[in-house]
Amino acid sequence: MDFGCGSVKPIILAVDDDPVNLSLIEGVLGEEIEIVGQSNGNDALEYLAHYSVDLVLLDYNMPEMNGIEVMKCMKRRMEMKNTPVIILTAEVDIEIETEVFQAGAVDFVRKPFVPMALQERVWRVLQSEYLKKNLRREAASQMRLADARLLASERLFDQTILALAKTIDAKDKYTQGHSKRVADYVRQIAQRAGESLEKQREIYCIGLLHDIGKIGVPSAIINKPSRLTEEEYETIKSHTTIGSAILRNIVEFPKLAVGARSHHERWDGSGYPDGLKGLEICQEARMIAVADAYDAMTSRRSYRDIMPQERVRREIARGSGTQFDPKFAEIMLGMIDEDVDFRMRAVIEDGE
Ligand SMILES: [Fe+2]
Repeated sequence: MDFGCGSVKPIILAVDDDPVNLSLIEGVLGEEIEIVGQSNGNDALEYLAHYSVDLVLLDYNMPEMNGIEVMKCMKRRMEMKNTPVIILTAEVDIEIETEVFQAGAVDFVRKPFVPMALQERVWRVLQSEYLKKNLRREAASQMRLADARLLASERLFDQTILALAKTIDAKDKYTQGHSKRVADYVRQIAQRAGESLEKQREIYCIGLLHDIGKIGVPSAIINKPSRLTEEEYETIKSHTTIGSAILRNIVEFPKLAVGARSHHERWDGSGYPDGLKGLEICQEARMIAVADAYDAMTSRRSYRDIMPQERVRREIARGSGTQFDPKFAEIMLGMIDEDVDFRMRAVIEDGE
C-alpha cells in the first residue's frame, strides 16, 4: 500500500502487556511498518515524549494504566495529542465502544486479531492521517502564496499611484513633490487622529492622487507666473471635477474620487465644487484641505516667497472653523509647534 512518503516506513508504537500480542502485531505488520513495542502505559508515554510516531496501538486492558487512561494522558500533552490511536480490546460491548471513541480513539480492533482486519484498519488510519497532514501542508502553502501575491499587488498599486503623483507634480514647476508631501502630511494627521494603520495607508493614497485633475488643466495656466484671471481661476478649479471623473473608474477604492473632488471644500461651506459644509465633506478631504494649505504656504510660488513659519501657523489657526475642520487644524498646529527647527518639509522630502 502507498503510504505516500516514499521509502520511509511509517512507525507504529504498539503497547501491550502481553509479549505474545506484540509479536503477533510485529508478524502481521512488521514487513512494511516499523513497530516499536512497549509493555505498559508509563513507558509508552515516556517514549512518545521523545519520539514521534505515526500511530499508536493501545491495549485496552493493562495493569496500572489501561489504554483509555494512557490515551487521556496523551490528549493533554502537546507533543502527542494529535497522534492517532487504535485501541486493541478483547471485550467489546456498547459501553466500551462508546468510551473508546469518546476518549478520542480513531478506531478499535478486536483481539484475537484477524490479521487482514488489523492490516486494513491500520493502513486506513495511516493513509487518512497522511492525507490530512498533506492537506494542512498544502493549505498553509497556498495561504503563504496568497499572502505573497497580495503583498506584491499592494506594492504594485503603491508604486503605480506614486508614479501617477509624480506625473501630476511634473506639470507644476512651482510645486514639485506637492502630492507626495501632502500625502505624507495627511498620513501623519490620520495617525495623530488615532486612525488605524490600514486607514492611514488609505488616506496616504487619497492624498497622493488628490490633484490628479491637474492633468486636464493647461500647463500655461498652472505655471502662469502672474496672477490668474477670473476665467483662468475657474479653469484651475475644474481640476477637482476632472480628478473625480478620472478616479471614478477605480470602483474598488471610491474614496480616491471623493478626495480629489472635495479637497477644496471649506468647513464653512464656501469652497468648491459642491459647496459642502462641515461633516458633509468627507473626512479624508478635510484632512487634505489643511495639509494642502500648509504645503502651499511653505512652497515658493511664482508671485511670492515662502511664508515665515509663524505666519503659516497664524493662517492655519485663522482658517480653523472657517476653511478647515477645527479638529484637523489643531492637529496641524501641533505638528507645526513640534517642528521647532522648521524641518518638517525637508524631512519629508528627504524620505522620497
Ligand atoms: Fe488641489
